[in-house]
Amino acid sequence: MTEANYAVIAASLRGERMGRAVADWATGRIAAVGMTADLIDLAEISLPDDELLQPGGAGPTEIAPRIDRADAYVIVTPEYNHSYPAGLKRAIDWHYREWMFKPATVLSYGVQGGLLATEHLRGVLAELHVVTTRRGVGLTTPWYDLGPAGYAPPDGVAKAFDLALGELAWWAETLRHARRDRPYIQR
Ligand SMILES: Cc1cc2nc3c(=O)[nH]c(=O)nc-3n(C[C@H](O)[C@H](O)[C@H](O)COP(=O)(O)O)c2cc1C
Repeated sequence: MTEANYAVIAASLRGERMGRAVADWATGRIAAVGMTADLIDLAEISLPDDELLQPGGAGPTEIAPRIDRADAYVIVTPEYNHSYPAGLKRAIDWHYREWMFKPATVLSYGVQGGLLATEHLRGVLAELHVVTTRRGVGLTTPWYDLGPAGYAPPDGVAKAFDLALGELAWWAETLRHARRDRPYIQR
């Protein structure tokens, strides 16, 4: 379907998180539509101490090459106190060039779909020249859909995600070519 590389970013760091089950489902769904995704689970990596942070990152970090390699991102995030988790903000802030001029789809979840996390992310990602797709997916109380085989979404969720992936794939190819053929010169 596409030559672009995708990364799924699982944002929750909690020991009893449900985010990993959602991220596993999303990664499987991406593979099912013929795309390849690297699952970057923020709970499985460590970032340097923020004491060392500089404008524009300060890397390299252990995930910088994986963020760099991806042409597009699916960000799987819970809503915490009407925003996204601090661990995700750290992962964003520790990288800069790696994110630039790429698209992202947000797959949020929470009591009411986690859409406030999505809206906060859109503004932050815009600062890094990351385009968020118009469509995202907001999962309402997905913990009720967790079974022994993992996350089993209600009817309609897979279709909604596939539509968002269609947008993401368009942006991924468009910006992949633009980065190669017409690189933006920062002034
Ligand atoms: C610190 C914290 C704040 C939360 N705030 C919200 C919130 O503002 N809105 C919401 O819908 N759910 C909120 N929740 C509930 C989460 O949606 C729920 O715990 C979810 O499972 C968190 O995702 P995780 O298990 O992958 O970490 C909060 C949970 C935590 C731990």
